[in-house]
Amino acid sequence: MVARTIGVWKRRACVESRKAICIIGSPRSRGSTACLVDRVIDGMKATGIEVDRLPLGAMTIGPCRGCRACEDTGRCVQRDDMDRLIGGILESDVVVLASPSYWGDVTGQMKVFIDRSLPLCNAKTGETPVPAGKVGIALAIRAGRSKEENEHIVDTFEHYFGHLGIRPVGSLTVEGVEHPPDLKERSDVLEEAFALGRGIAATHRKAQS
Ligand SMILES: Cc1cc2nc3c(=O)[nH]c(=O)nc-3n(C[C@H](O)[C@H](O)[C@H](O)COP(=O)(O)O)c2cc1C
Repeated sequence: MVARTIGVWKRRACVESRKAICIIGSPRSRGSTACLVDRVIDGMKATGIEVDRLPLGAMTIGPCRGCRACEDTGRCVQRDDMDRLIGGILESDVVVLASPSYWGDVTGQMKVFIDRSLPLCNAKTGETPVPAGKVGIALAIRAGRSKEENEHIVDTFEHYFGHLGIRPVGSLTVEGVEHPPDLKERSDVLEEAFALGRGIAATHRKAQS
């Protein structure tokens, strides 16, 4: 009886365990984007989600060469940190993409990451090797006050999710943040980021059913 109960518990723990990958597009490893992502991570960790936090600024990722070899082989010809990112996306249940606005768009680092994701989206066949059932969160932050620029960034991330069959389930845009101390004063925003992370396990469970 005891053994049976443990068996059930183990099975449930296994079913419930979730992984998230958080990709931070800013070159500043301790910048505003990282602060925002860290609150989302705190929320996810509070519900037991295992998180891989990956700042693109600390990684080496060459730009896409446009050779399109990946359309035939499913793999880029370049061996660099993109291998880790692709592996992380394939094995995660939750994908978080975050970028500050640079000239009204994602950063160069984030754009390189998106371009190098071509092995995950075969332009010839329209097929993706990404297993179904994943959910995505888009985060954008900027110094200026209007939302439009950030909404463009969220659209870019949701377009990316669409090609990979990842269901976009949440986004947060933050305006008026030039440097991290501006964000640290915004307890409402940080609370919203935490709640977004905390709610993702339930959202993922719903998306699966
Ligand atoms: C090269 C560059 C371009 C930027 N372009 C914009 C912009 O177009 N609109 C805007 O609102 N803020 C812009 N910013 C400000 C950043 O979006 C803002 O400072 C953000 O909080 C930086 O996030 P980080 O600390 O994570 O790098 C720019 C900053 C840099 C360095």
